[in-house]
Amino acid sequence: MQNSGPKVTPWEVRGEVDYEELIREFGVEPLNEELINRIERHAGYLHVLLRRNVFFAHREFGEWMDSYERGVETVLYTGRGPSGYTHLGHLVPWIFTKYLQDAFKADLYFQVTDDEKFLINPGMSVEEVKRYTDDNLLDIIAVGFDPKRTKIFTNLSYTKELYNIAVRVAKHVTFSTARATFGFTESSNIGIIFFPAMQAAPCFLPQTLKGTDAHVLIPCAIDQEPYWRITRDVAPKLGYRKPAGIYSKFIPGLGAGGKMSASMPETCIFLSDSPEEAKKKIRNAFTGGQPTVREQREKGGDPDVCVVYWYLYYLFDEDDKSVAETYEACRRGNRICGECKEQLAEKVAAFLVEHQRRREGARSILDEFLLRD
Ligand code: TYM
Repeated sequence: MQNSGPKVTPWEVRGEVDYEELIREFGVEPLNEELINRIERHAGYLHVLLRRNVFFAHREFGEWMDSYERGVETVLYTGRGPSGYTHLGHLVPWIFTKYLQDAFKADLYFQVTDDEKFLINPGMSVEEVKRYTDDNLLDIIAVGFDPKRTKIFTNLSYTKELYNIAVRVAKHVTFSTARATFGFTESSNIGIIFFPAMQAAPCFLPQTLKGTDAHVLIPCAIDQEPYWRITRDVAPKLGYRKPAGIYSKFIPGLGAGGKMSASMPETCIFLSDSPEEAKKKIRNAFTGGQPTVREQREKGGDPDVCVVYWYLYYLFDEDDKSVAETYEACRRGNRICGECKEQLAEKVAAFLVEHQRRREGARSILDEFLLRD
């Protein structure tokens, strides 16, 4: 495997990501205005993650909405690999999934890939992954999914049902395809080589459980797309519809460049961080500002490279006018980095307090969500 230049796979996102290029490389479609207007009509409002182009690409999302409008059962599928504590980036597809669940009154199947994280991380034991799983489940529920319409399962505790589907998928995927798609090598363990079939399996779970011809939509960040390429090839061979997908960009870390990643904790806001810890990280964040306040006032800053600005833009300032004013004021030198950092720190702290309150409440309703063998 090469070591330089940008790269996006389910296990690694490196370098400056060119999303236009990814659309071409992955063969997905950009989300256009017509589709965005259609979601808005169903939801009754336009989510900030759509308005700000964080969700930017899709596969057959229009066809999925056609199915909904024609009365075909339309369901959602998303997931989490529990290799650590949940961070703000993971929440982006989940918040959007909740928006879609509410808009389309859809059932949601939520997979937790404890097997994947055990297999891919050399130093990680099953016990450790299970500890993270128990923790992450609370964050997932805290998002506010409808308990009547949401089923959450982990691969190690819902194995029987999933494995029965996964073997059927696996039989149609050659090693050569899997290697080309995921970059497996001679030294990859055989567990991880089979794993893509386990991540594909929930695409066919609603059909298996209910005997319906469900149409599945997968909201996630674009790094998971390679799985769906394989799944879509296999679907007609098993007599199912191809799953549709809707894909987001990556929320950056607080450092210079790169997606938010738990492997760089100082640049990562964990949902378990105390408000004070999070504020401290934000105060140390990379900005587009000048080295001194005086220079900032004279020359202005560069919001295009500033992660503090991007956090406000992506998630924490929904007011279009206010965020446009921040951009202009920074450019003209009328706003200094400390002001933006404080604005963001207050918003993030308030968000964490509320999330952590909901997380505590999740403990008592956990069982309502879980599917087990
Ligand atoms: P995981 O745990 O790496 O990521 C969970 C979800 O978060 C997305 N994501 C991000 N989104 C925005 N900004 C970021 N910085 C960021 N980092 C991660 C991921 O795309 C994902 O949607 N193998 C999967 C678990 C899984 C799954 C699925 C995910 C199983 N089935 C179906 C999506 C859909 C994983 O390890 O995700």
